[in-house]
Amino acid sequence: MITEYIVVNEEAPDGEVIRRAGRIIRDGGLVAFPTETVYGLGGDALNPSSSRKIYEAKGRPSDNPLIVHICRWEDVAPIVSEIPPQAVILAEVFWPGPLTMILKKNDRVPKETTGGLDTVAIRFPSDKVAQALIAASGGYIAAPSANRSGRPSPTLARYCLEDLDGRVEMILDGGQVGGLESTIIDLTQEEPVILRPGFITKEMLEEVLDAVEEDRAVIDPDSGIAPKAPGMKYKHYAPRGELMIFKGERDKVVAGINQAAAREMAAGKKTGVICTDETEQQYKADSVKSTGCRGDDKSTARELFRILREFDDEGIERIYSESFDEGYLGKAIMNRLMKAAGHKVIDLGRAEGAFQTS
Ligand code: TXA
Ligand code: MG
Repeated sequence: MITEYIVVNEEAPDGEVIRRAGRIIRDGGLVAFPTETVYGLGGDALNPSSSRKIYEAKGRPSDNPLIVHICRWEDVAPIVSEIPPQAVILAEVFWPGPLTMILKKNDRVPKETTGGLDTVAIRFPSDKVAQALIAASGGYIAAPSANRSGRPSPTLARYCLEDLDGRVEMILDGGQVGGLESTIIDLTQEEPVILRPGFITKEMLEEVLDAVEEDRAVIDPDSGIAPKAPGMKYKHYAPRGELMIFKGERDKVVAGINQAAAREMAAGKKTGVICTDETEQQYKADSVKSTGCRGDDKSTARELFRILREFDDEGIERIYSESFDEGYLGKAIMNRLMKAAGHKVIDLGRAEGAFQTS
């Protein structure tokens, strides 16, 4: 299959291009497209064969359910068996936007799309290209992030091309996008539960709902508890190089990373450092990259996946990262970074000199 790559205007995509892309999806094909979070790998959510194609193109296990993207609130009712009152409130406040709701599905949604579950994840993205494409495709696009399974989620269309060339009919390039996947909230339990942290934080959700729980596996990733979102159990966002996170006081982190990098460089390894503008000049490694100012968590979210991809392109074998716990997105960012690192953390704050891995 030849993959067509088309640059579109982010705010006002060309109608003819969108119609063509929509036709590909209606006919059972696949199109990678921008959303405000990460690029999606889209197919017709109501067509089981499209969902199977998505799993195949992505190299993803088919027990991992897909998010159904819509472009109008009215399109929720036709695919669910009930609409809980919280869904109405959340849609009112946060849609369109980076929030995915899990609801009980009805028979119109094939099990192929939901990985065999009788619930369905629904999201109404705010991205204009995404909205236009969803409308042109019949209203329901199933889309995981447009990376091959296990690779960082794409924030640029050229990363979709890198992972999916020859596997999808079309890629729509709408520029660089936000970087953190949507917050997922399960509304099928007694109390709403956050299954994946994201731009819409627990605090924001608590302002409009009575109570919000957090999946234990999200709060404590090392607890060994299986996460409720099936996709959260897989190793994600993995760069090719080995990634380790350093925590603790700034000067200690800089010294610790420099020591580790020096040791690995002496052993002939190519090293990379992920840091912020404040410390960038202090590191000695083959490649040093900043996510922006410390505390600018939007910038961190946007740059992090891009840096991991760039390290892949540069052949970096050992990656050392500062940690990014603070800010209102700290929890969501660390959730992704910890997964990318396979939870390898060196905490220089707790015991002087003693490197702890957790
Ligand atoms: O921001 C996003 O959500 C992006 C863009 C493309 O919209 N999409 C995305 O999809 O991140 P994906 O497939 O990479 O992640 C979807 C997550 C997985 O962890 C999956 O297990 C979970 O959502 N999920 C989907 N349906 C579910 C369901 N019915 N119950 C529980 N978890 C579900
Ligand atoms: Mg993903």
